[in-house]
Amino acid sequence: MKTLTVDLADRSYPIFIGESLISNPELFTPYINGKQVMIVSNTTVAPLYLDQLKSSLSQYDVDEVILPDGEEYKNLDTLNLIFDALLSKRHNRTTTLIALGGGVIGDMTGFAASCYQRGVDFIQVPTTLLSQVDSSVGGKTAVNHPMGKNMIGAFYQPKAVIADISVLKTLPQRELSAGIAEVVKYGLICNTSFYSWLNVNMETLAAYDVDALATAVELSCLDKAAVVAQDEREGGIRAILNLGHTFGHAIETNQGYGVWLHGEAVAAGMVMAADLSWRLGNISQQEVHDLQGLLKRAQLPCVPPAEMSNSDFIDLMQVDKKVLDGKLRLVLLTSIGEAVVTSDFAVETLNKTLSAGEQLGY
Ligand code: NAD
Ligand code: GLY
Repeated sequence: MKTLTVDLADRSYPIFIGESLISNPELFTPYINGKQVMIVSNTTVAPLYLDQLKSSLSQYDVDEVILPDGEEYKNLDTLNLIFDALLSKRHNRTTTLIALGGGVIGDMTGFAASCYQRGVDFIQVPTTLLSQVDSSVGGKTAVNHPMGKNMIGAFYQPKAVIADISVLKTLPQRELSAGIAEVVKYGLICNTSFYSWLNVNMETLAAYDVDALATAVELSCLDKAAVVAQDEREGGIRAILNLGHTFGHAIETNQGYGVWLHGEAVAAGMVMAADLSWRLGNISQQEVHDLQGLLKRAQLPCVPPAEMSNSDFIDLMQVDKKVLDGKLRLVLLTSIGEAVVTSDFAVETLNKTLSAGEQLGY
C-alpha cells in the first residue's frame, strides 16, 4: 500500500492506494470520531461493495443511503435524500459520512457533509478510476444545476481517501477510459515523464493491469495533491487542473448530463485546448496529433459532437467558473507538461478551434 498526503495544515489528510483496502478496518478507525456512520452509495456500487465495507465498520452504528445511479441525479433533489436519511436515522454532529462510489457519489456526499448540521466528517472511498485520480482528492464538492455543471457546492476536505485498486476490476471499459482522460491531463499540465510513461503503457493501463493502475493512481494523486496544497480554493494555479474542462462542461451540458461521460467530454475538450494552443504557436501540430493518438488508444473521443455550433459552445462556456468580469479564461498548454490560465487569445482563433470539428488539429 502507498500512502500520500494532501498537505493542508490542520486539514491535511492521507490518500491510501492499494489492493483490498475496503476490507481493512484499520484504515477507517483513525478517521471516524463518533459512533455513527452513514454510507452513501448507489444502486450499482452498493450490491458490489457495500457488504465488504460494512464488515470493516462492525464496531460502529452504520446506516446507508442508496441513491439512483447517474450524473443526471447529481442534483439538489437527490442531495436531499442524504439529508432525509441522516435526519430520519437521527445522525448527530459526530457522524461520519462515507462516500462509496465514483465522482458523482463523492461530490454529493462531500457537499452533504459540508452542510449537514453545518459540517460533519466524511471519508472518500472512490470506486472509479476517475474518482481515484481526481474527484476524491482536493475537496471540491458539488451538485449540478440545469444551467451549469457543479454550480452549487463547497470546498470541503475529506478526513481520508481510501483508493482501493481492486474494485476497479468491475468498472465498465467505457468508465475506465473516462478515468484515463483525467490521468492524461496530469501528464499534459505538469508531468512530462508521466506523459511519456502513458505513451509506453497505455494499452496495459486500458487492460486493467493492477500494477499500471496503481502507478497511474499514485502519480496522478501526487500531482493533484501538490497543486491543491499550493492553492486549495483555486485562486490561481489550481485552475490548470481544469484543462479541457471548459470545452468539456459545454459538451456535457449541451448533450444532457450523462450522455457523454465527464472523462469523455474532458478528452475531447483537451484536444480542443491543445488545438487552440497550437494555433497560438505554443505547441506543434504534431503534438496535437500525438495527443489524439494517445487518447484513441484509450478508446476516448477526440472531437466534439458534430452538431454543436460555435455559439452553442460560446453560450455554455460563458457560465464557466473561470469567467472573470465577463471575459472567458481557458487553460491552455504553453508546452507539453506545462499549462497556463489565460484570456489572451483572439475570439477569431477560438472560433477556428470551435469550428474545426473532425479536422481538429490538422
Ligand atoms: P460516476 O460516479 O457516475 O461513476 C461512473 C459509473 O460507474 C456509475 O454508473 C457508477 O455507478 C459506476 N461504478 C462506480 N464504481 C464502480 C465499480 N467499482 N464497478 C462497477 N461500476 C462502478 O462517474 P465518475 O467518472 O466516477 O465521476 C464523474 C463525476 O465526478 C462528475 O460528476 C464530475 O463532475 C465529477 N468530478 C469531480 C471532480 C472534483 O474535483 N470534485 C473532479 C473530476 C470530476
Ligand atoms: N478537478 C479539478 C480540481 O479538483 O480542481
